Amino acid sequence: MTEQNAGPFHFVSDELYAEGVSLRRIAADWGTPTWVYSRAAIESAWDAFDAAFTGQPHLVCYAVKANSNLGVLDILARKGAGFDIVSGGELARVIAAGGDPRKVVYSGVAKRADEIEMALRANIACFNVESAFELDLIEQVAGAVGKPAPVSLRINPDVDAGTHPYIATGLKDNKFGVPMAEAPGLYARADASPHLAVTGIDCHIGSQITSIAPFADALTIVLQLVDDLAASGIAIEHVDLGGGVGVRYSDETPLDLAEYASAIGQIMGNRQLELRFEPGRCIAADAGVLLCEVMGIKSNGEKRFAVVDAAMNDLLRPSLYGAWQRITNVVRKDVAEDTYDVVGPVCESGDFLAKDRSLAVEAGDLLAVGSAGAYGAVMSSNYNTRGRGAELIVDGTDVFCARERETIADLMRLEHTLPP
Ligand code: LLP
Repeated sequence: MTEQNAGPFHFVSDELYAEGVSLRRIAADWGTPTWVYSRAAIESAWDAFDAAFTGQPHLVCYAVKANSNLGVLDILARKGAGFDIVSGGELARVIAAGGDPRKVVYSGVAKRADEIEMALRANIACFNVESAFELDLIEQVAGAVGKPAPVSLRINPDVDAGTHPYIATGLKDNKFGVPMAEAPGLYARADASPHLAVTGIDCHIGSQITSIAPFADALTIVLQLVDDLAASGIAIEHVDLGGGVGVRYSDETPLDLAEYASAIGQIMGNRQLELRFEPGRCIAADAGVLLCEVMGIKSNGEKRFAVVDAAMNDLLRPSLYGAWQRITNVVRKDVAEDTYDVVGPVCESGDFLAKDRSLAVEAGDLLAVGSAGAYGAVMSSNYNTRGRGAELIVDGTDVFCARERETIADLMRLEHTLPP
């Protein structure tokens, strides 16, 4: 969210807009809590990432887990995006949204046999394999289906991405990937199997990374292995560097995509390899806000609380990671600021959207939580039997409902009492 009249979320006089639509209007029409995404913001983030690699053979596979709403996937599918999935469910979403399965890479620590079969039959581009047991299962399923499975091994390069411990994935203590030492043996095994086709190599070292160095270190390590494999007669066609490019939540300086691309190009040298990327956050985060309403103000002793109608079941990042996300008044007002914990109605002390935040708020005010387009709605739950908020996509002056607000009937639809 910017303070200027620019960008997808901006003020028009004292009112916050998403593209050409007032968020106050949206709250009046759709209620709160509601997720609001900007189509233009998704498209421009996508274009910026893709354009940075112009001149280098590449495929950008949007990480569906960041925001898997069908409307969001539809926007990206129309752009010709590839997709990075971690489940059969995400593959079904990509296909339902019109995405091309041949541009899908399948990541994730473990895939079930039925999911592998579904992906194989859909002709996905590649399985990013994370263990010896997974390689065995993929080989078995591919043998049964009678179709060789394209595979790449996710290497754990043991580099420190300098990010939150819960979202660092490239250290040897993490559960992710295959240790470097085991990789050559697994590649040899895969290469010898008639049911597996070795196509690439992969790594993903973490998320919300704001400097180029960890990516450069990981790529250097991965390419060493590519060269060793080539020397032993195993040809690799693509290098997948995963996702992880960070955004600005508060005062971080995100890495410059042109510099990132040029650093990678230099390390690649004259190797004839396709580059693949799996960005999620940097495509979707800044394209969304979570709209909520202040239900009331209360103080317990020294502490002042702004109680809002969104909670940890809606936006989990502050509770789970202590994440800081900007909170802005939808309608600017002339009231003195005070320091508040912004909390939801859920029965947990860990239920907060912000701690010690300076805000000018009163009951009934609308607030927008910023950078909520990635790892927002996708991580929401029905805890406390709270229905998930609506998800809307703004396109210029149009508003599309990309997911309806859940009703109480929706929440109980799959449940049953016992027979009499
Ligand atoms: N590829 C793989 C294999 C991944 O595990 C992830 C994210 C991505 C790509 C996309 O990474 P991104 O470009 O979005 O950083 N819930 C956490 C983030 C978890 C990220 C998990 N993996 C959060 O809210 O910060």
